[in-house]
Amino acid sequence: MNISGETKIVGLIGNPIEHSISPPMHNAAFQESDLDFAYVTFKVEKADIEKALDGIRGLEIEGINVTIPHKSTVNKYLDEIEDTAEKIGAVNTIKRDGKKLKGFNTDGKGVLKTLRKEIGGIKNKNILLLGAGGAARAIGFTLAENGANLTISNRTESKAKELASEISKKTSNEVNQIPQNKKELRKAIRDSKILINSTSVGMYPNEGETLIESDSMHENLIVMDIVYNPLKTRLLEEAEKAGAKTIPGLRMLVHQGAASFKIWTGQEAPVKAMWEAAEEALKGR
Ligand code: ATR
Repeated sequence: MNISGETKIVGLIGNPIEHSISPPMHNAAFQESDLDFAYVTFKVEKADIEKALDGIRGLEIEGINVTIPHKSTVNKYLDEIEDTAEKIGAVNTIKRDGKKLKGFNTDGKGVLKTLRKEIGGIKNKNILLLGAGGAARAIGFTLAENGANLTISNRTESKAKELASEISKKTSNEVNQIPQNKKELRKAIRDSKILINSTSVGMYPNEGETLIESDSMHENLIVMDIVYNPLKTRLLEEAEKAGAKTIPGLRMLVHQGAASFKIWTGQEAPVKAMWEAAEEALKGR
């Protein structure tokens, strides 16, 4: 990478950010596309978020990804927020335009793009979404907005109920909710085309854990995990055992990154180069 006086800076604010695979993924994309951009990380404490956003304006940084713990707190310091990010209530990508900052959320788009590539459209498809945290919000809103028949199930049932009712209201697409027990999950999966895990279950160092086992799955199911470390989670192993199609979490990460790349550069992202760099970075951990 050649840093010159003309190099444009983009990056990531969050805490912790040391283990992020976004820098190798995005820098590979800039290199592949021959763009004079560099992606760096900025560790930002919660108390400093407003100053950090002013820094983007002052230093004329092109754009920023936002991660934990700032995704839902940056909103109030932005000048404009895209409609989907507004509904989700969280921003993971910021673009600077002059001294103005606009917020977007590409987390849900990452899942949508991945699913569209795998199975075409998701309209009227039955999707079971596990979880009701930040990731589930972004995915749930995006899928419901795009016409999926969504059912949400969460360990803490009250959170699933709240999220289902909020999405139903804001998207005019009725979202169901079921308790997270084996009997209910099995029944819902039998009627589903797609199962998405948006909880942290199965993430390193708890690789042995899964919310669903192969005996509850079927051959016509597509199973997607947002957990990408390990690359093949226990849930995806169980899905393979059942003969279901699997989509690893790294694919969503790459597609959300590709959507950020497009917002900043106006160009289509080189997804293959991003995938290879992300996979390599993950292996090197
Ligand atoms: P994120 O922003 O990554 O979604 P989060 O907001 O902390 O993180 O949400 C984590 C999700 O994983 C929640 O849905 C959580 O369920 P609860 O709402 O009941 O806490 C889910 N989760 C975490 N550990 C779990 C476990 N062992 N079993 C079932 N669900 C779990």
